[in-house]
Amino acid sequence: MSFKDHRASLALAMKDNSMAIVYAGMPLHQNEDDYAAFTVNSNFFYLTGLEREGMILLMTKVEGVVSEHLYIEEADPLEERWTGKMPTVKEAAETAEMDEARVQFLPSFMSRVNYMLSRVKVDHVYFDTFVNDINDLPHYNLVKAREFAAKCPAIEMHDLRNVLVPLRVEKDEDEIDRIRKAIEITKKSLEFVMQNLKPGMMEYQVQADFEYSCRKLGSKKQAFATIAGSGINGCMLHYETNDHVAEDGTLILLDLGAQYGNYASDITRTYPVNGRFTERQRQYYDLVLAANYAMRDAAKPGVTLKELNDVAKKVLAEGLVKMGKIESEEQVGKYYMHSVSHSMGIDTHDCTFNDMLLEPGWVITDEPGLYIDEECIGIRIEDDLLITEDGCEVLSADVIREADDIEAFMAK
Ligand code: GLY
Ligand code: MN
Ligand code: MN
Repeated sequence: MSFKDHRASLALAMKDNSMAIVYAGMPLHQNEDDYAAFTVNSNFFYLTGLEREGMILLMTKVEGVVSEHLYIEEADPLEERWTGKMPTVKEAAETAEMDEARVQFLPSFMSRVNYMLSRVKVDHVYFDTFVNDINDLPHYNLVKAREFAAKCPAIEMHDLRNVLVPLRVEKDEDEIDRIRKAIEITKKSLEFVMQNLKPGMMEYQVQADFEYSCRKLGSKKQAFATIAGSGINGCMLHYETNDHVAEDGTLILLDLGAQYGNYASDITRTYPVNGRFTERQRQYYDLVLAANYAMRDAAKPGVTLKELNDVAKKVLAEGLVKMGKIESEEQVGKYYMHSVSHSMGIDTHDCTFNDMLLEPGWVITDEPGLYIDEECIGIRIEDDLLITEDGCEVLSADVIREADDIEAFMAK
């Protein structure tokens, strides 16, 4: 499987007499002449392997005949003088695994769309119309979808997501290789962090060690904003400010991941800042680890992420009751308030629908945690799993996780 195969699978799922229009997107303007770093639309990347702004993929399926076109910006020497080389037709075609004749310059896009609308029977059009939060500014694909709908009200709109989610959740070999590489870089970079971690460091300095090592090892960027929360900050689930001192005697929760080939890794490790767990920290740590192990033992085709959460939650609940921390298992929500897993791929929280049954090829996380505010102890242990025919492979198996192993490594 590859980008070409991703398109072939999409074409199979498209209705007859339809088009799919997918934009790579444009960088977001911030202030004056400052733009945010460009992040390509994940569906566009899934279908082309390209990460360049401004490009458009157009797929059509008419009377069963599928045709694909990619539109790119024509290289402009003046623009290249300022911002560097732009992809050529040949390069874009190679990356997207597409016939060179199918790669054209942007002005041809509108001609092709006009032709499809005026001369060919097109009843359906697919756009990426995903909305994460109703208050968000509309993303580029959504803006374009609205423009299209306003101009062509008789053509039925469909959300590309409904077609692509079932494809994207099941990773092919190339995607799994990219994820493995991202995890390998994360593993080595966490070892670099452990070698340098000591009381008195700022959390952002721990973050800097991690991210420096990721760059050195070939990851261009992080899969998501690094979380480095020491002490009570480890109890904030998505703490990203990382601007406190990592004090002696506390734990530091590091939820982080290198990105590689536009695929994520998502690992959490919790370390004692001074290299030794206290007895109390260790008690909670081993309980979270037991939940992590129970979850991965239950991960296999046919189960849902919710069922896996129930498994981890039960272990945590029983452990906390045994420790006398809660009176009944129903109170576990006081110390464990997220869920244990999500799909991972191009996006760290990759696309899924609730209650889908796991299948071989899914990559998911295994991330139980405990957040004990009154003791300033926040612990999460997160691994990445590949669902196999009869269970799972822990892709992050080599990322040091047992408390004894962490202490031994940090003592070196
Ligand atoms: N890094 C965010 C999460 O673990 O889901
Ligand atoms: Mn994470
Ligand atoms: Mn995660």
